Amino acid sequence: MPDSHITYSQDNLTQAVLDRIAPDTDPRLAEIMRSLLGHAHAFVREVQLKPGEWERAIAFLVEMGRFCDDKRNEWIMLSDVTGVTMLVDAIAHASHEDVTETTVLGPFHRENPPLLGNGDNLSPGLEGETLELRVTVADAEGRPIEGAQVDIWHANGEGGYDSQIGDGERHMMRGRFTTGADGLVQCWTINPSSYPVPHDGPMGRVLASMGRSPMRPAHVHFWLKAPGYRDLITHIFADGDAYLHDDAVFGVKASLVCDLEARRRAGESDHLVLEYEFRLPRV
Ligand code: BEZ
Ligand code: FE
Repeated sequence: MPDSHITYSQDNLTQAVLDRIAPDTDPRLAEIMRSLLGHAHAFVREVQLKPGEWERAIAFLVEMGRFCDDKRNEWIMLSDVTGVTMLVDAIAHASHEDVTETTVLGPFHRENPPLLGNGDNLSPGLEGETLELRVTVADAEGRPIEGAQVDIWHANGEGGYDSQIGDGERHMMRGRFTTGADGLVQCWTINPSSYPVPHDGPMGRVLASMGRSPMRPAHVHFWLKAPGYRDLITHIFADGDAYLHDDAVFGVKASLVCDLEARRRAGESDHLVLEYEFRLPRV
């Protein structure tokens, strides 16, 4: 008589796979793998996945891997457009009224930006509408933080980052500042526009297949670091942008939207101004 226990079926296969997780597996890894495998099996069962569809999925995963290099991480992009990045972020940074909200890092941060000081221009010689940045770095009570490192980067008026323009080597529309006792960073740049996330690879096909837009609303990126405080990675979005409600990566938060026209409307400025107070949580 053949041993019936060596035959796996729809009924016992999932449990058999879960049972193979060794008892001495790292507890957190075991928790993650149990859930991941359980959900994967449930998904296959729910949609009654066909062999041809699974083959197409595997071919897609292979293509995703081949598309990546040290400048392009298609996996992060897939995580971004499927909302996974923002879900992980939301869990890690449960909303707290007193500190600034976080959002996606994106692929355009660079490790060694130009070191700049107050009054400097992030975009010398570049065409575009003048934008003044006036931001302060403070603790949860609004007290200025001295010695905070502030990385700023953004796209131009056509939606291109420096790494996408020309040979991609020159640093433009980016800089690193260090705050003084008043916590202030003041500098000049050009107004960024909305732009599409890079969608010329397999992730772009995923978006197109679901009839989704690759566009992101206009924004300026900030990465703040200060001793004794948690890093803050965020953007400030331009109020009124057509894509605020349809961001391809679900990164918009109401608290991060800024009216760049406010000062000009009030007759206090002849140019756009991004004015914001960042509040950092303590470690
Ligand atoms: C960005 O804001 O630069 C970005 C974020 C996520 C995916 C692609 C671009
Ligand atoms: Fe961006």
